[in-house]
Amino acid sequence: MTTTTNQAKNFAIIGVGGYIAIRHLKAIKETGHKLLATLDPNDSVGIIDSYFPDSHFFVEFERFDRHVDKLRRSGTQIHYVSICSPNYLHDSHIRFALRSGADVICEKPIVLNPWNLDALNEIEKESGRSIYNVLQLRLHPSIIELKRQIEQGPQEKIYDIDLTYITSRGRWYDISWKGDIHKSGGIATNIGVHFFDMLIWIFGGVKQNIVHMLETNKASGYLDLERARVKWYLSLDYNDIPDKVKEQGQRTYRSIKMNEKEIEFSGGFTDLHTETYTQVLQGKGFPLMEAKPAIETVYTIRNSTPIGLKGEYHEMCNRIKST
Ligand SMILES: NC(=O)c1ccc[n+]([C@@H]2O[C@H](COP(=O)([O-])OP(=O)(O)OC[C@H]3O[C@@H](n4cnc5c(N)ncnc54)[C@H](O)[C@@H]3O)[C@@H](O)[C@H]2O)c1
Repeated sequence: MTTTTNQAKNFAIIGVGGYIAIRHLKAIKETGHKLLATLDPNDSVGIIDSYFPDSHFFVEFERFDRHVDKLRRSGTQIHYVSICSPNYLHDSHIRFALRSGADVICEKPIVLNPWNLDALNEIEKESGRSIYNVLQLRLHPSIIELKRQIEQGPQEKIYDIDLTYITSRGRWYDISWKGDIHKSGGIATNIGVHFFDMLIWIFGGVKQNIVHMLETNKASGYLDLERARVKWYLSLDYNDIPDKVKEQGQRTYRSIKMNEKEIEFSGGFTDLHTETYTQVLQGKGFPLMEAKPAIETVYTIRNSTPIGLKGEYHEMCNRIKST
């Protein structure tokens, strides 16, 4: 599907060689815009040929910077820089984009720590440019419908949410930047942030944040939101996948229950980046500070001392196994 927005804009992508960058390449193409320049220290970027073979590619930041500056001085403005680099580099790459006079579309989590957001907020104001988050679950039709139902339901009602997300990763994960807590923020930040953002967006701010278990490949806890009590469990461990799901050859299991009833939102994930771009280009993107409640939540989780399992973990395991 092509959703062309008025005039073609010029884009650059930082981190073009990675897993998620393909969705950005596709989104730029599908929304009818142009990709002029890309950066990645890893030169395995043949995927660019399927989308924008004429875009300039750099493996060194300094040459990329020089190229973008040359374009600007010769009257070709990069309107948007899309950031698909590892999490701990986002804020630096955002600053580069703003200095270059571009708006930013940045992958999640936009930063690792709440104070990084405050610093970016200052620079964003100084630059007169805008920073937008990729918060694609907020664009999922089932999630939008759920938010509508909650808003229109009785205001005093508090919901019980049970979130389980097991997305098993092989040995490579621990070796990559994703397995390094200083670079990715760890499991709750890197994997959980989508869901915490979504739940806070629907059910309101965090009143209490309790962590039961915090390991490198799994974590669990409890969040008291304004309108929901949330039990959450995140895991990268294949052994946690329910047998029935394993038998189907799958390595991911996702379940979100509200008052014991499953919220169905399995399909329709992969096109949400294109929808993100459509929204941004229509002036309806999610601005920088929209990410703050979820970034604060994952920062708190990352720095918590778990209170211990008190049976919650075992209860959770048994429940998942009996799925
Ligand atoms: N929205 C989503 O559903 C979703 C899913 C996965 C990942 N992400 C996010 O997207 C970003 C990228 O994740 P990924 O899974 O594609 O990781 P990845 O490791 O596959 O890709 C990251 C890319 O960044 C490049 N890179 C590393 N250092 C760089 C630098 N200094 N300058 C420019 N590029 C650099 C790497 O070479 C790599 O090609 C992360 O922020 C991640 O959290 C979002």
